[in-house]
Amino acid sequence: MQQRKATAIAHPNIAFIKYWGNRDDELRLPANPSLSMNLGDLVTTTTVAFDETLERDEVVIDGQPAEQAARVRVSAHLDLIRQRAGLRSAARVVSRNNFPVGAGIASSASGFAALTVTACAAAGLDLTERELSALARRGSGSASRSVPGGYTEWLMGRGNASSFARSVAPAGHWDLRDVVVVVSREHKAVGSSRGHGMAVSSPLHATRVAVVPAILDVCTRALLARDLAAMGALIEQDAVMMHAVMMTSRPPLYYWTPETMAVIQAVQIWRADGVPVYFTIDAGPNVHLICEAANAAEVEARARALPGVLDILVSGPGGPARLVEEHLF
Ligand code: DP6
Repeated sequence: MQQRKATAIAHPNIAFIKYWGNRDDELRLPANPSLSMNLGDLVTTTTVAFDETLERDEVVIDGQPAEQAARVRVSAHLDLIRQRAGLRSAARVVSRNNFPVGAGIASSASGFAALTVTACAAAGLDLTERELSALARRGSGSASRSVPGGYTEWLMGRGNASSFARSVAPAGHWDLRDVVVVVSREHKAVGSSRGHGMAVSSPLHATRVAVVPAILDVCTRALLARDLAAMGALIEQDAVMMHAVMMTSRPPLYYWTPETMAVIQAVQIWRADGVPVYFTIDAGPNVHLICEAANAAEVEARARALPGVLDILVSGPGGPARLVEEHLF
C-alpha cells in the first residue's frame, strides 16, 4: 500500500445534558442520550500516516510521546479502522491541542473525533457523518458529539450503528459562550471511563436515566427557541443530578471542591443581580458558565474576582470535525 496521510481538526464539547454510565461498556452504548455544544475556540489537530515500515503505532500528543495507557487506547481505536479498511500497517499519529490539558476540558472528545476523521481518510475509507460519529464513540463516548457541527445530540440508539450524534442546530444558531472557570489543574483521580462503570452502583442512576430523555427534549426545544432561562435551569439540574449519581456510587466519587461550590453560589447571586448565566460541571471540579456572548465579558470579570480561580477559558460554538490541508509532520 502507498503511504497515506491526512490531517483533521475537531473541537471539544460541553454537555448541557450529560452522558454518564453505559448500557454496554465495550461498545460505549450510553445509558442515556445527551446534548452538547462544540467549543469552537478550542481545537485539536491530528495527523495520521499509515506506514508499512513502522513496527507499531507511534503516538505523539502535544510534542510528547503518549503515555502507555493513551497509546494503547489510540491503537485499539486504529484497529477498528484498520479492520474496516482491510489495512495492516501501523500508524504515526501526531496530535496537538490549542488548550491546556490541565484545564479540565476533556481532550478525549476532540482527540477521538479528530483521530477518527483523520485515520479513516488516511485509510481510504469514505464514511458518512453518522458512521464517523458512531466510530468516534468507540474511542470516547463524548467524541461522538464532536463529529457533527454546532449543537449536537447523541442518540442512545439500539446498537452500534444507531448510536451516533447528529446536529440539532448549526454553530451560528445561537452565540452562546462557555466561560470555563478553572479552580484546579490536578489530574482527576478517577477518569470518566472508570466512572461510567461505577454509575450503576448508585441507587439514583436508574432514576436519572429514566427522567433524562424527557428533560433532553424540553432542553432541546429551549435551545432551538434560544430560551436561556428555560435551558439553563435544566442544564444545572442535570449536572447536579449527574454529580448526585457520582457522589452516591460505591465507592463514591466526589469531584467538587469548596471552590466549585463557591462558583455555584456566586452564579445564583449574579442571576439575582440580573446577569443571565447558568453553570454545568463535568467529571472534575471546574465550572462551565453558560451565557450569551453579550454577557460573557461581565461573567468573566465576575468569575476572575472569585477566590481560588486559577484561569478562565472562553469559547463560542464550533463546527464539525473536518479534514484540513496542513500536516503536523
Ligand atoms: C462528565 O466521553 O470522557 O464529561 O467514553 O470513557 O471517554 P469515555 O467518557 P467521556 O465522558 C464524558 C463524561 C462527562 C459528561 C459528558 O460530556 O456528557
